[in-house]
Amino acid sequence: MREPGVDRVRPRRTCLAVPASNPRMIEKARGLGVDEFFLDLEDACAPLAKPAARRAVVEALNAGGWEGRTRVVRVNGVDTEWAYRDVVEVVEGAGEQLDCLLLPKVESVDHVRWLDLTLTQIERALGLPVGRIGIEAQIESASGVAAAEVVATSSPRLEALVFGPADFMASLTMRGMVVGEQPPGYDVGDAFHYVLMRLLVAARAAGIQAIDGPYLRVRDRDGLRRVAGRSAALGFDGKWVLHPDQIDEVNSVFSPARADYEHAEDILDAYAWHTSSAGGARGAAMLGSEMIDEASRKMALVVAARGRAAGLRRTRRWTPPVD
Ligand code: GLV
Ligand code: MG
Repeated sequence: MREPGVDRVRPRRTCLAVPASNPRMIEKARGLGVDEFFLDLEDACAPLAKPAARRAVVEALNAGGWEGRTRVVRVNGVDTEWAYRDVVEVVEGAGEQLDCLLLPKVESVDHVRWLDLTLTQIERALGLPVGRIGIEAQIESASGVAAAEVVATSSPRLEALVFGPADFMASLTMRGMVVGEQPPGYDVGDAFHYVLMRLLVAARAAGIQAIDGPYLRVRDRDGLRRVAGRSAALGFDGKWVLHPDQIDEVNSVFSPARADYEHAEDILDAYAWHTSSAGGARGAAMLGSEMIDEASRKMALVVAARGRAAGLRRTRRWTPPVD
């Protein structure tokens, strides 16, 4: 079995949407402290602007300056006339500078397999390593949610399932008009709990990441903190950001608190020692007043991996007890 949360440690706390048809926004994005950015050829790009936007994507990736961040392009969905050209032009033009493609409106295994096979053909033709470019699958419709579990295991390239609340709300005919917010009139819980939990379970069962979608009220910090805090608490790895003002908040919500990070590292050290012969080869042991066992180790692995990925470092070392 894969260790939870540690297989795909590419940090994705913040995934910045950058319209590929807007050179000013592409330039601005270079200086922003996000974990991932994606150049968007889909809904943020008008149909007539798509051919020029493809060229802008290739140019922006080849120009570099994106160090330390995951470089992603959102292509158009497989049922459009643009998808194949998006993939061919972007990967042929800048495949070496690309980490993942984000495929929107995924509703079946076939959608992901089409992209996987197309990528393989292009990688072979160009002599690029086959399989290096990953895929993020965006789930944003009733059919997509219904297929989430099989989609999540449909390709070894898959790195994340990504929720798309705007298209999802439209697909379900939810009453709300504010993307990412609760629909007015629904006052007995969180209208997004089911879909978030379903995507999270599907992603974790497949050993990949789960990313929450955008919150469109870009000036509402309290709203953003509340909404991001919910998916972070469930276990999501990160969330989209649409505006520079959203970045710090979301990075912080999806990073473990320093105290939790240090505690997780202590659990890992203490458990490793207690289960070793020097520590008595015990399966369960005490760390201070807390009982720790194999399940504690798994939970600690996730927090420690996220803390390290967020740049946290230890300020102390756990040492074995002296008798
Ligand atoms: C994003 O693509 C969304 O539909 O929310
Ligand atoms: Mg969408």
